[in-house]
Amino acid sequence: MDATGKPFLKVLRGAPAAVPPLWLMRQAGRYLPEYRALRTQARDFIDFCLRPELAVEATLQPIRRYGMDAAILFADILLIPHAMGQSVRFVEGDGPQLVPLRSAEDLARLSTDAVPELLAPVCDTVRGVRAALPPEAALIGFAGAPWTVATYMVEGKGGTEQGNIRRMAWSNPALFAALMDRLVEATAAYLIAQAEAGAEALQIFDTWAGNVPGPLFDAAVTGPTARIVRAVKAKFPALPVIGFPRAAGVHLARYAKATGVDAVGVDHMNDIRGASDAVGPSVAVQGNLDPMLLLEGGPAMDAEVRRQVAAMQGRRYIFNLGHGVTPPTPPDHVARVVELVRGG
Ligand code: CP3
Repeated sequence: MDATGKPFLKVLRGAPAAVPPLWLMRQAGRYLPEYRALRTQARDFIDFCLRPELAVEATLQPIRRYGMDAAILFADILLIPHAMGQSVRFVEGDGPQLVPLRSAEDLARLSTDAVPELLAPVCDTVRGVRAALPPEAALIGFAGAPWTVATYMVEGKGGTEQGNIRRMAWSNPALFAALMDRLVEATAAYLIAQAEAGAEALQIFDTWAGNVPGPLFDAAVTGPTARIVRAVKAKFPALPVIGFPRAAGVHLARYAKATGVDAVGVDHMNDIRGASDAVGPSVAVQGNLDPMLLLEGGPAMDAEVRRQVAAMQGRRYIFNLGHGVTPPTPPDHVARVVELVRGG
């Protein structure tokens, strides 16, 4: 099958599908027993991401089990700060821990020079996955958006109020802009390298877009993302880009327009059809089953999957979650969702 025949890419390039293509954020990961077994082969999570033989296998595991329409490259958004020279550690049960960046001196100690070389193994993973994927499945490359990556770099950890970076963005706009600039530059080059290696679409994860103060949304989210999209499209004009500004709420339509993305990921707080109305027919939408409903399963999940698919008939729509699969999710619930989306 040529690239244009893949259902996932067809929807991104402009045509609605009778049966929506599907993949799930965090479809590879700890909810799968085969992932947990593979994970024991690496010293730590960064080592795991940078060993192509392990990362290729992790990328393919959910495709083998469920036959999704797209595979997502197995890597992590925090490989960029790692490759810039910031200390990043993944602590079991505690999430990522970084030595926080709080000053111009801290930023000056980081460098983007070695990023392409240090992240070259990720491109080897892309090549390995492309060689092994079934012909109807597409490969998605990805990176974190500058704001979300910067929240981890400045806070030193995830999932907080992100008070330190918000204070920096308000009170030291020059330092904040310099940090965004470094991340735009490194991220654009990294995504272009993934495309050169064979990624067929790219997703930009802005997981913490919902914590940006409204007046700073363009400086933190749409501006940096637009620059990355422009740089990628200058080299690969036909390569679809999906933006996921999680919890962006009222900013979603403006985000789609200002960034030039081909599709938006819709979080579980939003309404999928309302989001599609807001962005208009020139932008595809991807989402948005609540990961907690996937965890629960049962008749409520069945009904909601059916409702979403029916509500999106005739539109450019990719079935996904509103955020990632959580580790306690029973693998059978994922199988059931795949069956339902495909008409079971
Ligand atoms: O299947 C896939 O989605 C592919 C791989 C992927 C991972 N992380 C693997 C991973 C992707 C696309 C990501 C993106 C990512 N990483 C995001 C954006 C998407 C989102 O979920 O919001 C963010 C914010 C991160 C940062 C990150 N990485 C955190 C906060 C954590 C720890 C939290 C946790 O779940 O423990 C990670 C670790 C991580 N990334 C794991 C996996 C499978 C678990 C670590 C392990 O297996 O040891």
